[in-house]
Amino acid sequence: MADWYYDDLRQVGVDFEDTAAVAAYDRNQGTDAAAERTLLDELRVGSGHVVIDIGCGTGAFALEAARRCRTVYAVDVSAGMLAFARRRAEGQGLHNLHFRHGGFLSYGHDGPRADLLVTKYAFHHLPDFWKGVALVRMKEMLGQDGRLFLRDVVFSFPPAEHRREIDAWIARMAKPSGEGFTAADFATHVRDEHSTYDWIIEGLLERAGFRIERKVRWDAAYTDYLCAKAA
Ligand SMILES: C[S@@+](CC[C@H](N)C(=O)[O-])C[C@H]1O[C@@H](n2cnc3c(N)ncnc32)[C@H](O)[C@@H]1O
Repeated sequence: MADWYYDDLRQVGVDFEDTAAVAAYDRNQGTDAAAERTLLDELRVGSGHVVIDIGCGTGAFALEAARRCRTVYAVDVSAGMLAFARRRAEGQGLHNLHFRHGGFLSYGHDGPRADLLVTKYAFHHLPDFWKGVALVRMKEMLGQDGRLFLRDVVFSFPPAEHRREIDAWIARMAKPSGEGFTAADFATHVRDEHSTYDWIIEGLLERAGFRIERKVRWDAAYTDYLCAKAA
């Protein structure tokens, strides 16, 4: 690997190797198996499908996906998250669920080309240049009719509005310590992680060879993209 290549195995911002952060994640995030099943329905994931989930975290989506599709590759840079997700899967007989230690830039997919690549709330860990590299890699992991589902913190307000919008986002989302992600967690996200504007994400998707088929803007801070290969 070239000496200029980004090391995506190191934690950026919130440390998801921290045992306490892993243990508190589902409560903080409001992880909900029923919501993961609804998403799988919306994405029309079927029994023949191969699914890759990058930044799988505690594995909630990957486990639900494994119950209804052929094979799931659950990928994360955090050994702690993977251990948690493995424990969750244990005893459920999900022999089609494969955990892999790696990231957007370091995971080498050696399975069949995927029908669906999902990444939720993880892509913002990469700086924008490396998001572009990661999208090219993800496109290569997909079969010809494969789709990419990207859900993340995506800012869709004018740059000049950043102070008001970021303050409003934190005020809307932050919870007291012990109940959810705190204002300090959101501040870490904005300061140390790499969430960016919708027009940057959309430009990167298109230049990496994706066609945006559906965009759902939840609010000024969250957006979903469902994409197909452009060619
Ligand atoms: C906020 S959690 C999201 C977990 C899960 N996808 C969800 O929907 O709840 C972000 C996850 O991305 C992982 N992550 C951070 N940097 C990454 C990278 N470069 N490649 C892949 N995963 C990464 C973290 O370890 C963490 O498990």
